This record gives sequence, structure tokens and C-alpha cells, in this order.
Amino acid sequence: MLGLHAVLLGFSPASSQTLTVYHVNPLHEGVLPIDMDTADLHGDMFFDLKSKTTPIERSSQFNGTRGGDCTNGEVVDTDLVISKLSIDVFGGFGEYGRCNICMEDGIDPFSGLKCTPGQYFCTCGNFRAPYACNDQRAVGREELSSAFGNFTICTWDVWVKAPWACWGWPVVRLTGGTWYSTTRAGWCDAPGADPATCTWRARVEKIVNKSCSDDIIYSAVEAYDAERDGCFARCPSHQRGQARNTSATCWIYCFYATVLGERTLVPGEHSDGMPLPELEAAFERPFLSEALGGCPSIPPPKSPVTQVPAHRSITRSWAQRRAAMIKRWYGEANSLRLPM
Ligand SMILES: *[C@@H]1O[C@H](CO)[C@@H](O)[C@H](O)[C@H]1NC(C)=O
Ligand SMILES: *[C@@H]1O[C@H](CO)[C@@H](O)[C@H](O)[C@H]1NC(C)=O
Ligand SMILES: *[C@@H]1O[C@H](CO)[C@@H](O)[C@H](O)[C@H]1NC(C)=O
Ligand SMILES: *[C@@H]1O[C@H](CO)[C@@H](O)[C@H](O)[C@H]1NC(C)=O
Repeated sequence: MLGLHAVLLGFSPASSQTLTVYHVNPLHEGVLPIDMDTADLHGDMFFDLKSKTTPIERSSQFNGTRGGDCTNGEVVDTDLVISKLSIDVFGGFGEYGRCNICMEDGIDPFSGLKCTPGQYFCTCGNFRAPYACNDQRAVGREELSSAFGNFTICTWDVWVKAPWACWGWPVVRLTGGTWYSTTRAGWCDAPGADPATCTWRARVEKIVNKSCSDDIIYSAVEAYDAERDGCFARCPSHQRGQARNTSATCWIYCFYATVLGERTLVPGEHSDGMPLPELEAAFERPFLSEALGGCPSIPPPKSPVTQVPAHRSITRSWAQRRAAMIKRWYGEANSLRLPM
């Protein structure tokens, strides 16, 4: 009923709605999501929680072969910020565009299609048959439970070889969530934009350092565990607070065991983990005022209208890693989904 209502409203040009979205980005690229992807709170939680196994995937033990996203990962993170934005959306939603920065070789790391180096490039369509869609004006939308939700998450054959491959997918069942794509073609604040046909406008609510946000989220998960199982404290070379090693396999295991429930990491089983409202609160806390436990606010970079991605290696390695990660998720979801 609600969905039908939204569709009907979508065809009226006067209709608008305001979304609260989040995205992770290097600060120097700017924080307005021009030809970029953003997520609602649950979609942001999925992206973040699903990717904690990355250090294991990248370790030499596994050859770093899964997805090939092992380029310069460690140097990436100091410039990363998380932005909380309000987006006014005019008109209906369109297809979701997977937007990635085009590499120096002129190839989009997600789709393999040709693109202009250094520019953000968005692709729509089936994962196996993508096409460029930067010219789509409508704000794109992807429901994560339909994109990633319905398949056999983990088999015993996978589990005996790589148990960690079973830890990330249950996150989507916990969070669901929505991802959005917003193009320059639909941006109402672009120079010369047509107010009659433009589709979105964004306001920055707050920008925080990703390492500050990570610390708040990790501390909440560790505190929840400390009152119950004490998993983190039992890890070899356990370190408290910011000294924690989030690449340590034991820390990663305890993180998923706490968030999802220990039995959820075993094929075909389930136990309850951290309650969703507590996780939501942890993900929202960085954006509260500092007096309420939030992170310091980072000023937005100058002149968003002329915002162009900088040609710096730090940009490329974060973008490359993100694109490879998401590509692998779509690939796995495609190969695992039962035939209709
Ligand atoms: C690791 O890499 C080597 C050399 O490229 C290859 O022969 C081997 O099969 C790989 N092992 C795994 C587990 O992917
Ligand atoms: C974020 O915090 C880290 C660690 O405190 C610091 O090295 C980095 O420069 C900060 N990044 C930004 C964009 O402020
Ligand atoms: C996924 O599974 C749920 C529960 O079985 C079902 O209600 C839903 O329609 C399914 N979604 C898709 C896209 O198949
Ligand atoms: C963190 O853990 C990883 C994986 O076990 C290890 O290679 C690395 O040396 C550890 N880092 C520190 C600072 O202990």
C-alpha cells in the first residue's frame, strides 16, 4: 500500500520527500553526492558491517585473490570521512546506478566499461549486462534485501574452507536498508539546472572523521560483549580502545559473533546478536553533538559546485577497493541466488 502510494506520488512533479543519507568518501573529493552513491542508515550499516572481513580476505593466507582489491589498502583510511546529508528528492525514483571513479586506464572497475579517467561513472542494469547511466536524472534506488537478501547464505563446504566467508552475508537480514544514486544530470544546484526537471538537492548535516566513527561503533560492540560473553577479552594480544587491532582474526570473529549472534556464523543456525536499536544508536552517535558523545564536526571542503575528484593515488585506492568489494558482493549475490 505504502509502495503504491509512493509510486503514484512519484509521477507528480510537485511531489518531494526528504531523505537522510550517509556516505563514506575521501574528504578532498567533496561530500555532495554528485554522480555518487549514498545509503540510508540501514544501508550504511550494511556496507560497514559487511566489510569487516576485508583484512582476512586480503591476507596472504588467502592469496588476496578474492576480488583483487588488495591495492594499498592501509594508506587509504586517514582522509576518509562519513557525511550525513539531507537530500530533497523531486519526482519518482529510478534505477540504481553503481557509481565509481574511473581509473587511469579509462576502465570502470565495477563494470569493465570504458569511461573518462578521474570522473565518476555510474552503471545501471543487470550486474552481468551493465550500461552507463550518468544521464539518468531520477534519483536511483536499490533495496538491499532484494538485491542481496534471498539466497543460501552459507554451506558447510564453504564453511570448512573459509568460515569468515559466512560472517558478512547475514548482516543484510539484520539491517536490510536502501542505497541511492544521485547524478549531476539531476542536481538542482548545478549551474544552469532546470528547476522543472531537476530531481535532487543535498544539504550537509555533519561530516565526521571515519576513524572517530569507527571507534564509537567498535566501542559499543565491545561494551555489549564485555557484559555478556567476553569474547574480545579472550583474544590473544587483546588491546583495549583505539589500540585494538581490527585486522586480527579473533577481533573480527568476536565482532560478528557479537553483532549477529555466535550461532548465526554457522550454516543453517541462528542466535540473536546485539539488538538492532543498539546498533542503530551506535551508528548515529558520531553525528550527535560532542557533548552527547558525538565526533567533532569537520568543515565541508570549499566550492562544492566545481567539485571535481582529485587525481590522487589515495582516491584511486579507496575507490578501487570499494568498487572491487561491491562488485564481489553483486557477483556472489548473483551466483548464489536461486533461479526464479
Ligand atoms: C595462490 O596463488 C598461487 C600462485 O598464483 C596459485 O597457484 C594458488 O592456487 C593460489 N591459492 C589459492 C588458495 O587461491
Ligand atoms: C581523522 O583522524 C585520524 C586519526 O586521528 C587523522 O590521522 C586524520 O588526519 C583525520 N582525518 C581528517 C580528514 O580529519
Ligand atoms: C525473499 O524472501 C522473503 C521471505 O521468504 C519473501 O517474502 C520475499 O518476497 C523474497 N524476496 C525476493 C525478492 O524474492
Ligand atoms: C594486527 O593483526 C594482523 C593480523 O593478525 C597482524 O598481521 C598485525 O601485525 C597486527 N598488528 C599489530 C599492530 O599488532
